[in-house]
Amino acid sequence: MSLQIQMSSANPASLEVDVLAVCVTEGALGKDKLLGALDGALGGALTSLAAQTDFHGGSEQTLDLLTLGRLPARRVLLLGAGSRRGLDDARVRTLAASAARAANGFNAKTLGLVLSEKTSGASLRAVAEGLVLGEYRFTKYFTGERVPKAELGQAMVFKTGGRPSASEKKAIDLGKQVAQAVCHARDAVNEPPNELTPEALAGLATQAAKKYRFRVTVLDKKGIARAGMKLHYAVGQGSTNEPRFIHMTYAPRAAKKKIVFVGKGLTFDSGGLCIKPAAGMGEMKSDMGGAAAVLGTMMAVGAVRPNVEVHGIIGAAENMPDGAAYRPGDIFGSLDGKSVEIINTDAEGRLVLADALAYATKLEPDVIVDAATLTGACVVALGKTYSAFYTGEEQLARQVDRAAKEAGENLWRMPLIEELREQLKSDVADLKHMGERWGGSITAALFLREFVGKVPWIHCDIAGPALSDRARGVTPKGGTGHPVLTFLRFVENAV
Ligand code: BES
Ligand code: MN
Ligand code: ZN
Repeated sequence: MSLQIQMSSANPASLEVDVLAVCVTEGALGKDKLLGALDGALGGALTSLAAQTDFHGGSEQTLDLLTLGRLPARRVLLLGAGSRRGLDDARVRTLAASAARAANGFNAKTLGLVLSEKTSGASLRAVAEGLVLGEYRFTKYFTGERVPKAELGQAMVFKTGGRPSASEKKAIDLGKQVAQAVCHARDAVNEPPNELTPEALAGLATQAAKKYRFRVTVLDKKGIARAGMKLHYAVGQGSTNEPRFIHMTYAPRAAKKKIVFVGKGLTFDSGGLCIKPAAGMGEMKSDMGGAAAVLGTMMAVGAVRPNVEVHGIIGAAENMPDGAAYRPGDIFGSLDGKSVEIINTDAEGRLVLADALAYATKLEPDVIVDAATLTGACVVALGKTYSAFYTGEEQLARQVDRAAKEAGENLWRMPLIEELREQLKSDVADLKHMGERWGGSITAALFLREFVGKVPWIHCDIAGPALSDRARGVTPKGGTGHPVLTFLRFVENAV
């Protein structure tokens, strides 16, 4: 069942909910009328507990208290919102998510949410996005005791003034749908690799195409061979779970812009013959994080239906060691025509992407944007919470920065350092697919650039943020859905 979100202009203090969450900007405790009323009903417990725990409304601070019958709400939760000035959509989204996640933790079925600012149409969408993103849990494989005791079914968002307008209701509904698209991306990442095979990933795209009204075509192993995607084929040839190439199309009639998203869809990356060490290998179920982001973006685009032509392309495969697996020393052609010498079978993502990017250029788009859990080197460079993005075009870089800021996601531009390009020279083929260890995220980007021709292009190495080791803000532990929200903003800003 999906979360119901309603608006109310009643007095929040009178509401019978499991959790009443109130956002508190820096210093508002002691000044705000509602907080004063709640504190009064609780015999001063809020202010004294705040003093004891040094709660002053700083961002990420929380304070919670059982009301023990002194208020109709069972529990009051104060959420620090930081300085009043910076309460933009990204922070509103985070606050709503924190409220919903906390409500889950308290086994709450109902939540009241009071934001300290007046809420415009745009920020109501952000509130709804945050609530659904924060409420998310991946519980599909739990049985018995592990099944959650309660599910958050209803959230009341307080707003001053009269009844909610039609546009406000629409903003909330849109926010819900966008967040659900992100949650589908998270689900896909969290699914175990025995279940989410390339074929199953194509199945998700086919289902999504029906539900969100866009077109999809899928190529199987033979189709990939026939199309000439020799690099994609090579990566998939060692697995009994055969590769798939997925092309989703959303094409409104009057669109003037065309954007193609391309995602790395390694449903599992064992490293192949250059096998990875056992420790942490299971995390490589998330090596389809780029594909999940592209799928989620297509769903969100299908919900928002902007006047932009959007394509979503996924190269799906499983990288396994086998008698039929590709090997170091192999040379393959590619869809683009260039030949590639294989150095290390664990640098497989860029091979799948090379063919997918070459395919994307044939659509003659205004811009290609790819997302891939491409390199460990990127995680070394920027840590787990930032993705790298690369582009040769200043204007595109500004557009990504803006979209990421609005989305509340972390993407940091990295340079395409030309002098590293020579590391990709091969003695026996047109290109090697990798260079030295140092600057590994950059040489991977430079390799991809060989396959985009003259089309403006943005590459996102999302190896860090695709999977999170803890819950924070809108992000749960596990699959995150990063950077669906940024990609959606990028599309919406293009109109
Ligand atoms: N999928 C991995 C990159 C990765 C590593 C993603 C850690 C998320 C967390 C990729 O296919 C890979 O194995 N890359 C190699 C490249 C190397 C062999 C040039 C790497 O980063 O070690
Ligand atoms: Mn790999
Ligand atoms: Zn990989």
